[in-house]
Amino acid sequence: MTGPGRAIPNAVPHLAGNEWKYVKECLDTNWVSSAGPFVGRFEREVAAHVGVPHAVATVNGTAALHVALLAAGVKPGDLVLVPALTFMATGNAIAYCGAEPVFLDSEEVSWGLDPEKTADFLSRECLVKARHVVHRATGRVVRALLPVDLYGHPCDLDAILEIAGRHPLAVVEDAAEALGARYRGRAVGGDGLVSCLSFNGNKIITTGGGGMVLTRDPEVAARVRSLTTQARGDALEFVHDEVGFNYRLTNIQAALGVAQLEQLDAFIEAKRATAAHYRELLDGVPGLTVFTEAAWARSTYWMPSLLLDERRGPDMRALLRRLNAAGIGARPLWRPLNLQPAFKSALTYRIEVAPRLYDRGLSLPCSVGITPEERRLVAEALVSALEP
Ligand SMILES: Cc1ncc(COP(=O)(O)O)c(C=O)c1O
Repeated sequence: MTGPGRAIPNAVPHLAGNEWKYVKECLDTNWVSSAGPFVGRFEREVAAHVGVPHAVATVNGTAALHVALLAAGVKPGDLVLVPALTFMATGNAIAYCGAEPVFLDSEEVSWGLDPEKTADFLSRECLVKARHVVHRATGRVVRALLPVDLYGHPCDLDAILEIAGRHPLAVVEDAAEALGARYRGRAVGGDGLVSCLSFNGNKIITTGGGGMVLTRDPEVAARVRSLTTQARGDALEFVHDEVGFNYRLTNIQAALGVAQLEQLDAFIEAKRATAAHYRELLDGVPGLTVFTEAAWARSTYWMPSLLLDERRGPDMRALLRRLNAAGIGARPLWRPLNLQPAFKSALTYRIEVAPRLYDRGLSLPCSVGITPEERRLVAEALVSALEP
């Protein structure tokens, strides 16, 4: 097998708009830190894009999740229900609150939290006492549901909101990978109590590092804003209401974000074109199922992914090794968090689909700037790597 000549990375930023201009503006005006006009502008523009009244920019998506969970009322000793199939940051943010995750399964269509098993866990393993959901076996309060929109595809949010509506449970949505996606016509990130975005380097828009908390609830927004700025109540006298965090995004990063957001629609079109091209190139190749979108979803295809047939060809790890040796930046799906050493003693419930997806899944190179020729090289390398 021969490589493509030069490596095709998994996902690199595409800085093709006003990034230089806006960053220069920061340097020219001396607004380089977390005060400065681009921070508020970025918050307002992302909020308008998603259609929520409040947005608070943060230093990264993990910090966004941390403060979102705190603002949703998650306390030390609480339990938070979360799909096992997600990036480690989702679980870490729960741990930062002194709470513990209960890892649940994903469903096959969206790869997001399985609503049926979530409802089943709540009815079999929990009871509602004094307006709290209590986990029978541990006596701990289940405070929140933390669904995740994976690879640019929304989870089945209405089903999850319906479950939360029947219980005293806050919904904190990890939409880090799904800015710009739509669920039943609604923008992802506007529905739960609070949702979180990431602008990490490989995300659909990037600020280098960065994140944002979105909410319709003014109290949640105020708490998040306070927690991200060291909980400084009195700006003049430096009075701090509680122990907060230095989690604000800088003006330079926000300047990048404003420039990137101007290109978001074009980036989504580019990602969708990449996914469609891969589908066309891989159509009919035995041993593969390409991850597409549910009838109710408009995915951004942030990271086009596929599943290997269980019965044929090499396993996912062998395939990945072959692709990486050929210079193709393919990646495995997220390793389910219940399989992470850091969470080896966490509570789990009926996790069956997530490890199967992990064992069979991989994501393909998907930079916004990937060329049709590069996509053809990826598909050719994949087909040749599938040969025994
Ligand atoms: C699902 C998910 N949650 C949270 C994060 C954390 O975001 P960040 O890297 O900006 O901290 C990421 C991405 O990195 C992610 O993919």
